[in-house]
Amino acid sequence: MEVLFRDGLARIGRFSTPHGELETPTVMPVINPNIIVVSPSEMKRIGVRAIITNSYIIRRNAELREKALSSGLHSMLSFDGPIMTDSGTFQSYVYGGVEYDNAGMVEFQKSIGSDIVTILDVFTKPEDPYEQVRRAIEVTRARVDEVDPGDSLLAGPIQGSIYDDLRAYSAKLMSGSKATYLPIGGVVPLLESYRYADLVRIIVNSKVNAPFSRPIHLFGGGHPMFIPMAVLLGVDIFDSASYVKYARDGRLLFPDGTRDASEVLEFPYWSPLRDMQQRDIAAMDKRERLYWFSLHNLHALFSEIREVRIRIEEQTLWEYVQSKAMAHPTLLEAFRTLRSYSRLLERYTEVSKKNSFMYLDTRSLEHPSAVRLSRFLESFVGGDPVFVPRAEYEGNRGAVISRYERSQRPFLVQWMHGWVPMELEDTYPVQQYVGPEARLIPDVGSPLEEEGQRLRDFDLEKVRAIADYQFGKGAGRVLFPDGTEIVKSRATGRIRTISYGGVQVATMRPKDGLFTLTMEGARRLHQGIGGKRLRVFVNRESEAFNRAGYNVFFKFIVDFDPEIVAGNETLVVSEGDDLLAVGKASVSGLEMASYRKGVAVKVHHSAGSHADVSAP
Ligand code: GUN
Repeated sequence: MEVLFRDGLARIGRFSTPHGELETPTVMPVINPNIIVVSPSEMKRIGVRAIITNSYIIRRNAELREKALSSGLHSMLSFDGPIMTDSGTFQSYVYGGVEYDNAGMVEFQKSIGSDIVTILDVFTKPEDPYEQVRRAIEVTRARVDEVDPGDSLLAGPIQGSIYDDLRAYSAKLMSGSKATYLPIGGVVPLLESYRYADLVRIIVNSKVNAPFSRPIHLFGGGHPMFIPMAVLLGVDIFDSASYVKYARDGRLLFPDGTRDASEVLEFPYWSPLRDMQQRDIAAMDKRERLYWFSLHNLHALFSEIREVRIRIEEQTLWEYVQSKAMAHPTLLEAFRTLRSYSRLLERYTEVSKKNSFMYLDTRSLEHPSAVRLSRFLESFVGGDPVFVPRAEYEGNRGAVISRYERSQRPFLVQWMHGWVPMELEDTYPVQQYVGPEARLIPDVGSPLEEEGQRLRDFDLEKVRAIADYQFGKGAGRVLFPDGTEIVKSRATGRIRTISYGGVQVATMRPKDGLFTLTMEGARRLHQGIGGKRLRVFVNRESEAFNRAGYNVFFKFIVDFDPEIVAGNETLVVSEGDDLLAVGKASVSGLEMASYRKGVAVKVHHSAGSHADVSAP
């Protein structure tokens, strides 16, 4: 899996199948080969890139079986993109068993030309007892070893019912197998009863215990209500039989829920029904109605996917999910569960987002970027802070800074509904946020001392605090010792470059108020902060190229700091810890070991130059 855009755990990604690359997030509509309601070629026009069908149904039906075996699945369904096949597990769950075994089912899927074949996993129901679920997971895992997927991708479902630890166990077991495609199974009963809070826990426990290089699929998760939240938690692919199932019941999917078609007086602009009235629908025969309702439902799914893609590109998916949580009580409850994972999500969150942080209500304080800021605040602020009201800070900044410089106490200014170190005034997300003005009454602290002599320099303390926020406690003093020279923009008054002894150490990015390091800055951090911190270690093969300024590829990394923050400045060092270069990490330390393909650190400064090596 290659990641094109990311927003925390959410990603726009791409992976190869025998029938071309598949870009995610996406929905695979379920095709019942017995009853094709919307043809796969028509689906393509709506945005469908891959479909899923059931190999068990095909195998059981002599006519379908012969056709699939002789001409292949792609020709049978008239679809030239990736086709995934399911194995009969779901039928086994519904009917209590199937007549085929695992190895035979996988062989059959291969022989009809499926791109993604699925083992016959053991479905775990929400009400199943713990021990039974554990056995089902182990049997499912053992079944991966019974099969050879050939050129197809192999789907190894993660089971585990509603038990957090068993989901984690299953994800870890599957990660150690040759299944390179990981569906989350056993969730249809939860989806059908809108138990989204349970799903949040299931997805989180599955996702963070599986390698990030493998696509994650949510079996049956095709409702536009829940898609954004699932993508936020790292789901790449959904499938949907619901588009036909609901249509058959006269039900229509909408971004915020499901409606009875007979009660909808006007259809949304994205719906193929938009020019119709109830009387037009009443005039349709059953078949026609099923077609139009299914088409509407597919449009609902794909317009949601499109919205989610936009949000990932903008890095505002969290805000979208937050606002969407108000659409339905089940989503609101699920969002509460999601918020309980904010600290976990923070570890996958970029150092800054492309767009401003949007404050919507107090729950915005649980946005992973806000959580990062408040964790910093806890470690940064010692006793007896001085609270500076917004009006005073904005109206009389010079006087506030003068008092700051004559004191040793932490100065906090109001940010949203809390207080943040004044030194972070220009830094994401303190500066880059949109929200209503709230005027808090400052906590009553002790009064500020009488003005005395100047004890510190605000600009120097500011760059140090930003460095501590960006690189960890202590980095500020390492990078910017006394005597550091700070140059500000004449136009904006904001800090631009920081040097020492005439040598530039860092620049402050106007966009997010964080630092880009020069080689001198990298050297200072490297010398002052030891161990693995802030580092990726590359092998011998890569060393000369990175020293010459070429990017670091995942496959050359031998070790790294697990606490690397995605998008943050990262030191590139040799196996023996010689500093080679500095650049931006493309993923967090928690993801670093997952990937083999692509750029891990985009190098911007290096010890040598391109001329030192011939291009790789
Ligand atoms: N379809 C819906 N749920 C499941 C599941 O758990 N396993 C498989 N193989 N298919 C499914």
